[in-house]
Parts: sequence; C-alpha cells; structure tokens
Amino acid sequence: MAGGMMISGGVKQGRAELYEGRITSYVVLACIVAATGGSLFGYDLGVSGGVTSMDDFLIKFFPKVYRRKKEHLHETDYCKYDNQLLTLFTSSLYFAGLVSTFAASHVTRKYGRRMSIIVGGSSFLLGGALNAGSQNIAMLIIGRLLLGIGIGFGNQAVPLYLSEMAPPKIRGATNNLFQLTTCLGIFVANVINFFTNKLHPWGWRLSLGLAIVPALLMTVGGIFLPETPNSLVEQGRLDEGRQILEKIRGTKNVQAEFDDLVEASEIARSVKHPFRNLLQRKNRPQLVMACCIPSCQQLTGNNSFLFYAPVIFQSLGMGNDASLYSAIMTGAVITLGAIVSICTVDRLGRRFLFMEAGTQMIICHVIISILLALKFGKGEEIPTGYGVGIVLLICLFTVAFGWSWGPLGWLVPSELFPLETRSAGQAVVVSVNLLFTAIIAQSFLALLCNLKYGIFLLFAGLVFLMSVFIFLLLPETKGIPIEEMRFEWEKHWYWKRIVKDDDDQAKDMESNNGVNKGF
Ligand code: BGC
Repeated sequence: MAGGMMISGGVKQGRAELYEGRITSYVVLACIVAATGGSLFGYDLGVSGGVTSMDDFLIKFFPKVYRRKKEHLHETDYCKYDNQLLTLFTSSLYFAGLVSTFAASHVTRKYGRRMSIIVGGSSFLLGGALNAGSQNIAMLIIGRLLLGIGIGFGNQAVPLYLSEMAPPKIRGATNNLFQLTTCLGIFVANVINFFTNKLHPWGWRLSLGLAIVPALLMTVGGIFLPETPNSLVEQGRLDEGRQILEKIRGTKNVQAEFDDLVEASEIARSVKHPFRNLLQRKNRPQLVMACCIPSCQQLTGNNSFLFYAPVIFQSLGMGNDASLYSAIMTGAVITLGAIVSICTVDRLGRRFLFMEAGTQMIICHVIISILLALKFGKGEEIPTGYGVGIVLLICLFTVAFGWSWGPLGWLVPSELFPLETRSAGQAVVVSVNLLFTAIIAQSFLALLCNLKYGIFLLFAGLVFLMSVFIFLLLPETKGIPIEEMRFEWEKHWYWKRIVKDDDDQAKDMESNNGVNKGF
C-alpha cells in the first residue's frame, strides 16, 4: 500500500500538493476528441424539436398530428397544441439512455472509459444511419433507441474520461468542454434544421443523418484515444497506467499522483458490487449529490426555455423565421455561457458560480412571470416592448444556466466519487438527468397550459431551494484531486457525521482485531 498519508488535527490530509505536471498537448488533444461525445448529445437534443415540426416528417410518420397542427396554427396562448405521442417519440431517446447507462457503467469499470466511448460512438453511427433511411415508424424508433444507447454510454464515459485525464488545477475547464460541445451540437442542429426544412420532401433525413459526422469522429477518435491512468490502474495494468500518467503530465515525477491512484484502485478492486457499495452510509454524500444535482439541473427550467423561445418569437410577429432566430439566440447565448464557465470555473470555484447564477436565474424567472401575467395569454400578440424584455430575460437566464448548472451538472458529480463507485455513480447521474429531461419534455406544455405564468414562479422557487441545498451541502471541489475528495467530506460540517461513523467503526474494528491478535 502506498504510504505518505498524514493525520493532522484529526483530519487526514492528502498529498495533492506533491502532484507535478503541466498541461501537455497530448492531454489537450485527447480531451478535445473525447468531448465530441457532447456534440452528439447536443445534436440529438437539438435536432428532434425541429424535425418533429417539419411537415414532410409529420405527413410520413404522424399524419394525424399533421392535421391537428394545421388546425392549431395560429395559437398565441398558453395552451399550445400538445401531442403526447409525438413527445413520447422524442423522449424514447432519453428512456433508452437512462437504461443503457447502467450497462455502460459495467463496461467503463471493467474494460475502461475508451471502450464505452467506442460503443457509444458506434451506436450513434448506427442510429443516425437508420433514422436517415427510415421507411416506417419501427425503423425510426429503433434508430432513436440506438441514439439513446449512444447517449447512455457517451454521457457515462466522457465526463469521467475528461475529469480523470485533466490535471486537478484545470479539471473544471477540461470537463466543461463536454458542455461546450453539447451546446455547439444543439446550435448546429437548429441551424441545420432551418435549412433542411426547405428541402422537400427529404430534408428531415439529412437532419437526422448528419449525426453520423460527429459519431464517426467519436468512434474513430475513441479507437486512438489513450485510456485514463485511473482506469488502467483500476484494471491492474499498473505499468501502462504509470506510463500514460507520465505522458499526459509531461514529467517523470508523478509518484505522488500515482500513489493515490494505486491506493484508490486497491479499495476499488476489493469492491465487488459497486451499486450496492454506493448505498453504504459512507457513500451517502455522493449518492445524494448524484441524485440531486442532475435532477436540479433539469428543474431549473432551462430546457423549457429552449423549447418555449420559438413561441415567444412567434408572438413577436416573426412568423416562420421565429424558430431560427430563437435557435440562434439561445444557442449562441448558451455557448457563451459555457465559454465563460471554462474560463472561470477553476478560479472562482463551483460554489460561487452556482450561487451567482442561482440568484440571476431566480430574478429572471420572477420578472418573466410578471411580464407574462400582465400581457400574455389574452389571445393577442405581446406588445413589442414586453416581447423584447422577455427575450432579454431569457438570454440572461440562459447565459447564467450556461455557466453554472449546465456544465456543473456534469462536472461536479464526475469529481465526487471515489474510484470504486465512480462508474456506478456516473450511471446514476446520467439516468437521473435523462429521466428528468424526459419528465420535463413530457409535461412542460401541459404544465404551462394549467399553471400559465405561474410555472416560471414554480421554477424560481425550485432554483431557490437548490441554491440553498448547494450552499449548505456541497463542498468546494476546485483544485482537489478526485482521489482525495474523501477528505473533504470528512471535514464538512454536516457530512462528517455521516461518513465518519463508518470510518470510526472501521477503526474500532481494527483496534479490536489488534487486541485479538495480542498487539
Ligand atoms: C443539459 C441539457 C441541456 C444542455 C444545454 C446540458 O448540460 O444536460 O439538458 O439541454 O445542457 O442547455
């Protein structure tokens, strides 16, 4: 067992300050390739909204929906026409993702992060091809399920890959590449949809089929990517693990970091059932975060805004081009948010971004709700001044989400888990995220119809509660090596009571064993 742990003031200290290394071009390249996984996630999130509103697509697969759409063309009210079957088609992707991510967790742990990236990329490739060539609903849905499996594997492995490859000092920025490529994927999908909508009757095939391009990049990239040192050590391939660590850190002096990896992997290998282990009391803080952070990310209401923006733009009299304008606007703003996050997350810290953005998002939700209460839903178009105000507020909301809950919803969970439960924990994160994405997608229109402007007050209340949760319960993870996060829980005002109990029990057992052995 690698030594070097100190006890000071009752709290164990790690050896993080002994870590060496610089940012090598090798690690930068590897991370950029891995981050293409995000672009596929984004492309699939972004493409379906546009495709499911294309007439050619609806006539071919959902003729009933097409007829209803024509009847409800001129709505400017809260209760837009809502077709559960069509939303279910959109959501099938998330359901496939949330189930398959558990299989991904096994592959990621047993065969490495790279393997899951390759499986995810291939599944995207097949799904994209099948969707582009669909002749009937069965082909369409199987294609959609394959894309969902791609998301289940990609979102499980890519954030872990990025967090493990990055030096702790820039782990936040590196991991946020995932969010950046997700946003770019959404943006590109929306722009492509705008143009393919004009290509009759096969434009939708091009929209769905173009997913093949990043899928190919992800699959081929995955074949050539190096495995993470953490995963190699976890698989017992110590020499290779050390070699890769030296290569990505650009120095031979990696002993301290390597010792941490070996120590973590010894614990990891003694754990036979990672999911059962996740339920143990000592892993309670991580489990709570793995469930709360992704669900809260979706409960901010961000995706509803992405979805709702075209309606607002339509009400401003922008007619047919409304969806393009809103897509470009929200896409650009959310990408800007991701860039701000990359530049600030390792300096300002995760907690600061959560708290600042939380405040900004609450204010935006409340004012939007007031403006809508005053002028929307009376069957008339919104006056221009109000409309512009709402659009600006949507931008301010979206950019705040873009530098906080968006990227941090993936980053923070990926840096909390010890090696033994990391793959299992990330599977929980992905499945909770996709479950809530599906729930919001499925219920937003019905909620909007019933709660009217009150839905934004509901989101404001939820953002307030989640900000309090972060403030009280999430320790800062900035700059802390992942394998040393356990010391942070032991220092935390609340979690120390929960995680310490187990430790103390273990110590008691150890001393009892010592007594029994006659020491
Ligand atoms: C979220 C998605 C969202 C995207 C862009 C991601 O972090 O998980 O649900 O659509 O950011 O806002």
